Amino acid sequence: MDISVSPRPGLTSDDELGKILVNPGFGTHFTDHMLTVEWTPEAGWHGGRITPYGKLALDPATAVLHYAQEIFEGLKAYRHADGSIWTFRPEANGARFARSARRLALPELPAADFVTTVDALVTQDARWVPSGEGERSLYIRPFMFASETFLGVRPARHVTYMVITSPAGSYFAKGVQPVSIMVSESYTRAAPGGMGAAKTGGNYAASLAPQLEAIAKGYDQVVFLDAVENTYVEELGGMNLCFVYDDGTIVTPELTGTILEGITRSSIIEVARAHGHKVAERRVAFSEWRDGVISGRIAEVFACGTAAVVTPVGKVVWRDGEAGSGKAGPVTQAIRQALVDIQYGRAEDRFGWMHRVV
Ligand SMILES: Cc1ncc(COP(=O)(O)O)c(C=O)c1O
Repeated sequence: MDISVSPRPGLTSDDELGKILVNPGFGTHFTDHMLTVEWTPEAGWHGGRITPYGKLALDPATAVLHYAQEIFEGLKAYRHADGSIWTFRPEANGARFARSARRLALPELPAADFVTTVDALVTQDARWVPSGEGERSLYIRPFMFASETFLGVRPARHVTYMVITSPAGSYFAKGVQPVSIMVSESYTRAAPGGMGAAKTGGNYAASLAPQLEAIAKGYDQVVFLDAVENTYVEELGGMNLCFVYDDGTIVTPELTGTILEGITRSSIIEVARAHGHKVAERRVAFSEWRDGVISGRIAEVFACGTAAVVTPVGKVVWRDGEAGSGKAGPVTQAIRQALVDIQYGRAEDRFGWMHRVV
């Protein structure tokens, strides 16, 4: 893929950048450049370019604004102690992006081009990758949307792929904090045959009302059950789930087509096995979770995803009860540490997951 570069005249000054990188938060500061590639049926992928970060001018009839034909990804670049910059399993994000594209009837971007474009933008804005101290990183957001000006329900004939990047602070600025989770008993996230396994905006829009309900009741997150029997645990709005049993076995809900196949989840399965844990991917009824936490058979519960890596679940709440110690368990902390150490280059990458960018 050819990518032209038109640098921004007058980059963010060292002073200003230094201030941003001290405490970048999440998703509010954007780097100096963005990357764009376009697609039409006639020309295929073309027009790859890095340009100054800036606003898009969209016709009000742009298809994505009406029919939500869009997908996205999320991954991070980490700066190691020697100054080098790495991403974590970017080809896995590229493969998932291609699967999401198929489900949304968008053109597939080859995974190799996905990695090339991410590398190109991260290299261009390398000075925005914070030092790894305090688990800071550069969050990378590739996305693709129906950019044809057309009001009609059919796959767009003009599609735009973009990558933007944003420095991210530590998810847990005050140390790893367990979260409370409310079981959503009136909303589901995804039905069989739907879009649950695709990373598309509609799934996140659907999670907002239940999430607001949980927050109004004083809880941090929502967990969704399966849409058919309202029985089996699926995932949170933006993270997968793992259960640590009292014999050290780790169980995570199997991929049924309604759950997003998390790259953190699949990495944890491998790390946990390397640490000597038995790992099972199978259906988990909510009653098994509830009764297991109450009886002590389930010793720890954690959620996982790129943003926080591993988040301990301190408490689970349902219509007429709650259970949980409120604490982060030792297995949760050990797995989190193992993964973070690989990402920041502090432990040997025995799995071959890290990809050097700069
Ligand atoms: C719905 C959902 N499930 C799970 C995950 C975890 O996926 P990953 O580990 O690839 O970040 C995410 C985060 O992107 C998500 O949005």
